[in-house]
Formats: sequence, structure tokens, C-alpha cells
Amino acid sequence: MNQDMGREPAAIDTSVAHSARMYDYWLGGRTNFAPDRELGDAVERVIPTIRAMAKENRRFLGRAVRHMVHLQGIRQFLDIGTGIPTENNTHEVAQLADPSARVVYVDNDPIVLAHARALMSGTPVGRTAFIQADLRDPKAILRHRSLRETLDLREPVGLVLVGVLMLVPDADDPWQKVTALLDALPKGSCVALTHVTADFDPEAVGAVVDAEDEGRITLAPRTKDEVARFFGDWEPVQPGIVPVMAWRPDGPAPADPQAAYYWAGMARKRS
Ligand SMILES: C[S@@+](CC[C@H](N)C(=O)[O-])C[C@H]1O[C@@H](n2cnc3c(N)ncnc32)[C@H](O)[C@@H]1O
Repeated sequence: MNQDMGREPAAIDTSVAHSARMYDYWLGGRTNFAPDRELGDAVERVIPTIRAMAKENRRFLGRAVRHMVHLQGIRQFLDIGTGIPTENNTHEVAQLADPSARVVYVDNDPIVLAHARALMSGTPVGRTAFIQADLRDPKAILRHRSLRETLDLREPVGLVLVGVLMLVPDADDPWQKVTALLDALPKGSCVALTHVTADFDPEAVGAVVDAEDEGRITLAPRTKDEVARFFGDWEPVQPGIVPVMAWRPDGPAPADPQAAYYWAGMARKRS
């Protein structure tokens, strides 16, 4: 595993809630502190299914990566907004499908960097790398030495933006940042993403935005149309943008897909 060790580590502030640690709390992980749990509980009081939602988001990640390996022929992945390692991380899913798969992880939270080495060891024939960088600076990600050493940008790449874009406010123009990433990838590449939305339950999601804002986390839920804009002119992979549980479910279709707080979708760069 190649890790971005050259940088001065940014301080880990445990006195305020962080999105990665709050998400870890919902997933049942142990890398979280009192402010993360307090805010996580406040959100759960408004959306009692939030833990199930976080798990659905992770399940989508697994299904999307497997789909990209088995049906789109992709063998290398760029996963931005990695989160604290948990079960079925991108490299584990991809390398189970093909042990030679390569994965570059990117996250801007120093706590994720702190856990990257311990938890993300790839197969001997595959490769994983971790870069501490910000989605809002796509150039820095794309020209990073670890990325260039791990991925071949002449071959299709699976870009994974799961559960991260809602943490980038409109003021930072996340569409432009994603376009810069999409433009750098060759034909046959795929992008998979999930995004928090208020389309189904505006009142509850509005209350969560306020609670997270008080906890100093910016949450920007987006409509289906706003989410669609992230895919640019790439070709939608069926079934298009759907509630997260309804994206190619492994088992029977969910009873009430509208009870979702995430849109999910995938698209492919046209050949
Ligand atoms: C909710 S977690 C999602 C983790 C994982 N992708 C998943 O879906 O299970 C969001 C992650 O995005 C990271 N993140 C937030 N804003 C970011 C940014 N601007 N650049 C890079 N990573 C970011 C957070 O640190 C956190 O680890």
C-alpha cells in the first residue's frame, strides 16, 4: 500500500463532530467521539432509519464496484470520500472480483489518513494507495504521484463518489470539480455516486441540515435534477438515478424505495 506520508498531518479535532466519524458511528464502528455520537443521535431522532440508510449506502458501494468489474470490465478505481475503513471497502470488493484490481483512495479528513495504513492492505497482485486531498482540488488529485503510480489513466477507471458530494456546498461548485475529474478519465470509464436528497422527506432533511449546521457540518441535499448534472453527458447505466436501495438490488426490490434519503446512480463515458 502506498500512502500519502509526505504531508504534514493535519490535526485531528475530536472536540467537534466530523462527517466521517458520525458516519462510522451510524455504521457501528469504533472510530468516533462524544460530539460525533451526540450529533449522530440528534440526526437519528429526526430520521430513525439513518443507520439503515448508512448501511444501504455501503451496500450500493459494493454493488456498484462489483458491477463495474463484472459488467463494465473496469479494473482500477478512484474512490474519493473514502471514509473510515469498515467492511467491504472498495479494494476488498474489487479485488475479490479480480485480485489484480487497483484502487486509489482520497479523503481530506486526517482521521481517515490515520486509519488508512492499518486497515487497507490490498492483495499482493493488486495495489492500493491513499492520498490525503480534497475533492474541491481535482487537479491536485489527478497529478498526485501516488495516483499516477497506481492508476493508468489511459485505461478505464471507476470513479466512486459515494456519500461525499453532499458535503461540498454549492458555493464550491461541486459540478465543476466533478466535471474536471470526468474529463480526465478515458472512454469506458464509469462514475458511481450517491447523494443525500430532500426530495422524499423535505421536513426531516431540513431539520437534519439545521442540526448538522449547528454541529458545524455543512450538508447540501440536492434534487434529482441537480444530482443528474454531476453525470454530464455520460451515458446512464440502467436503471438511471433511483433511490439507493432500488439500484440493482441483490435480493427482491425494496418494499418502499421512496423511504430513501439518498439518490444513487452510475454513468459510463461513451466510447
Ligand atoms: C459519509 S462518508 C462516506 C464514506 C464512504 N464513501 C461511504 O459511502 O461509505 C464521507 C467522507 O467524505 C469525506 N469528505 C468530505 N468532504 C470531502 C472533500 N471535500 N474532499 C475529500 N473527502 C471529503 C469525509 O471525510 C468522509 O470520510
